[in-house]
Amino acid sequence: MSTASPASLPPLGVYVHWPFCAAICPYCDFNVHLLRNSQTDPADWLRAYRRELAHAQSLRPQGRVETVFFGGGTPSLMSPDLVGGILSAIEEMWGLAAEAEITLEANPMSAPETHLKALRAAGVTRLSLGVQAFDDGALKFLGRTHSAQDARVAFEAAQRIFPRASFDLIYARPNQTPDAWASELSAALALTPQHMSLYQLTIEADTPFYKHQAAGKLILPDEDASADMYEITQSLCASAGLPAYEISNHAAEGHACRHNVASWQGGDYLGIGPGAHGRVSCLEKGARLSSVAHRSPSEWLAQVETDGHGWAELHPLDGESVEMEAVLLGLRLVEGVGLDALAERGVHLEAARLADLRAAGLLSADTSRLQASPEGRLVLDHLSGRLLA
Ligand SMILES: C[S@@+](CC[C@H](N)C(=O)[O-])C[C@H]1O[C@@H](n2cnc3c(N)ncnc32)[C@H](O)[C@@H]1O
Ligand code: SF4
Repeated sequence: MSTASPASLPPLGVYVHWPFCAAICPYCDFNVHLLRNSQTDPADWLRAYRRELAHAQSLRPQGRVETVFFGGGTPSLMSPDLVGGILSAIEEMWGLAAEAEITLEANPMSAPETHLKALRAAGVTRLSLGVQAFDDGALKFLGRTHSAQDARVAFEAAQRIFPRASFDLIYARPNQTPDAWASELSAALALTPQHMSLYQLTIEADTPFYKHQAAGKLILPDEDASADMYEITQSLCASAGLPAYEISNHAAEGHACRHNVASWQGGDYLGIGPGAHGRVSCLEKGARLSSVAHRSPSEWLAQVETDGHGWAELHPLDGESVEMEAVLLGLRLVEGVGLDALAERGVHLEAARLADLRAAGLLSADTSRLQASPEGRLVLDHLSGRLLA
C-alpha cells in the first residue's frame, strides 16, 4: 500500500464462493465438488460464511461494500435464504452501498423462474447464466445437462426478473468453424443481452478434456481458425453495441460487471468461502494482503469452526507481486489503466520500456495510460512479459 489512510483505500467488494455443482463439466478446473445434500445444510453454511466475513471485517472494517459476487461452482443451487443471510451479514458489518451490484452465477438447470424471483427478492441484482453454447450437440459434448432452449428460457426469465443479466458462451470448440460460430453468436445477440462473457475453450490440466486431448481424441481448431473466431466475436459484438471491455467480456455502455472491473483495477475484494482468493488493504498491518482459502469444503468448514476463517494463506503482497498483478490485470481491460492510478498503488513502470512498446504498436499511443493496442491484445502474454522482464 503506497498510502495509509481510510480515504486512500480502494473500493470494497466481496467474492463469495459456492463450490457445489449438480454435475461436473469435463472442461472445468474451478474449485467444484459434486453436490451431496448432506454437505450443504444452509444453516451450517450461513454460520460459516458469517464467521469468515467477520474475520475479514476485523482486517478491513472501513468503507461500504460496493459489489458482491456469488461465484462457483453453481451458486444458483444456494437457497435464497442463504444468499439473503450472507447479504444481511454484509449489510450489518459494513453496510451495502445504495446502488450495490450483487451478481450471482447460475446454471440454466437450477434457474426456474420461481427460484430466480426468490433470489431477486433476497437482493441479487445481476444474474450471470452459464449457457456455454446455443447448439444442442455442442452442449452434449461440453457435458451440459440443459438444451439450448432451456438456456433461452432461463435467460429470458433472468432479463425480466433482474435489473441486469448476462450469459457465458464457450467458443473455438472442436469442429466448430468460424461460420458456425458467427451464426451461433448472431443467434445469441438476437436475445438482446447487454452483457456477455465469451471464452475460447481452454484445456485445463487434470480435466477429462485434458486426457481426451492427450489421447488425440479432442482436437481444438487450429490457430488461424481460432483467430478468425476471435475477430468475428469482436466485430459482431461491436456492431451489436456490445464492444469488448475486457479480453472475454462484452457489454453495452454502462453494463460492464462492476465487481470484476474494480478487481482488475486494483480494488479490494474479500474472498469468502472454499478456495476463494482475496485482496485486502489492511491499515492496521500497513499492507495489502492476499488470502487463499482451503479448497476442500469440509476442510474449510472445519477450519472456520476452529479459527474463524478457512484461509490456508494470508500474506502481504510484496512490491513485485503488486506490479505484476497491476500490469497483467490492467492490460486485460480495453481501456487499460491510468499511469497515475498505478503510481498511487506504488507501481512505476520504466518510461523507456513503455515508449519502446508504443513504438512497436503493442501499446496504445496514449502516454497517460497503460493500454494494450488491438494488436497488443492478441499477444498479451508476450506484451506483459516484455513489460515485466
Ligand atoms: C462458474 S461457471 C458459470 C456458472 C455455472 N457454474 C455454469 O457453468 O452454468 C464460470 C464460467 O467459466 C467458463 N469456463 C469454465 N471453464 C472453462 C474452460 N476450460 N474454457 C473456457 N471457459 C470456461 C464457462 O463459460 C463458465 O460459465
Ligand atoms: S462450468 Fe459451471 S457447472 Fe460446470 S463444473 Fe464448472 S462451475 Fe460447475
